[in-house]
Amino acid sequence: MCVDGKILSNHIATQAIHAQYGGVVPELASRAHMQNIVPVVDVALKNAGVGLTNVDAFAFTQSPGLIGSLLVGGQFAKSLSLALDKPLIAVNHMQAHVLANLIPERKPSFPFLCLTVSGGHTQIVLCESPTRLKVIGETIDDAAGEAFDKSAKLLGLPYPGGPLIDKYAKEGDPHRFQFPEPKIPGYNFSFSGLKTSILYFLRNAGKSQVYKEEFAATESERKQFIDQNLADICASIQDRIITILLNKVKKAAKDLNIQGLCIAGGVSANSGLRKAFTEAGEKNGWNTFIPDFQYCTDNAGMIAITGYYKYLVNDFSELNVPSAARAKW
Ligand code: KG4
Ligand code: ZN
Repeated sequence: MCVDGKILSNHIATQAIHAQYGGVVPELASRAHMQNIVPVVDVALKNAGVGLTNVDAFAFTQSPGLIGSLLVGGQFAKSLSLALDKPLIAVNHMQAHVLANLIPERKPSFPFLCLTVSGGHTQIVLCESPTRLKVIGETIDDAAGEAFDKSAKLLGLPYPGGPLIDKYAKEGDPHRFQFPEPKIPGYNFSFSGLKTSILYFLRNAGKSQVYKEEFAATESERKQFIDQNLADICASIQDRIITILLNKVKKAAKDLNIQGLCIAGGVSANSGLRKAFTEAGEKNGWNTFIPDFQYCTDNAGMIAITGYYKYLVNDFSELNVPSAARAKW
């Protein structure tokens, strides 16, 4: 719930059910959305102290995301909009991650650059206004969040593995193992090579990062190697993901001569990235902005703040707008 650009409530229903399957199961996600949507909206209104009939507009995530979950939210927002005769606002999930940086009192001034890092996307976005955003770089394969989650899976950690790698990395030496940095032109990213080198590194119990028959470890050697070196492996993987991300951000900031730098998305909750980004800012003379933890991973506040800025410029949708637009938008 957003009132005059301030977030009054940010209520989230977490779906623990997916952990046992090692990833989000789309069918279970949409069923859980169906069950949760009415109680979640009730709590959000209660926490904000606002009655449903006092709401001026209803914003919903149109895309990108899982279609079944998007349909639930979209149809629900449309029903409220129709029943209460109030405008409907379709929000782009990735724009909302970026605009989470406009929630705090201290906001970046335009233009600024945002590194948006989530489970499905990795982008460098040039932001000229709340509603003028241009993706200038993106991943050509896996997203940064996927790099964390897939690495964690290879280490035998449960889903989502990103926060666990973050946790173990705190105790480890980030320079103990060297993983490769891909050479990708411009501001684009690639994480699939890193994933492959981690795969072989673990299969070989740390002896090599490329496939070599003679280094192949047995299952128990591999497990023992992981157990004995988990913190250093996590710290080294995390360090490489962070340097891949920040080297591109540095390049973009320098080329475009922009000093306002933000991060956003689930991976911006990573403590190593937050620290390295802040340090890079101090070194390069940037004004850095990082959303509060609750506004990094998917949340209602970022959709509400985006709805607010779209409301200010009358950017409304008709009721026949698709409830779920495209897998990629
Ligand atoms: O933005 P988000 O909540 O959902 C998507 O839009 O995808 O991002 C989820 C991603 C997952 O890959 C998750 O592992 C990652 O963000 N993530 C983290 C941390 N917290 C969440 N990755 C690394 N360190 C964290 N602390
Ligand atoms: Zn997200």
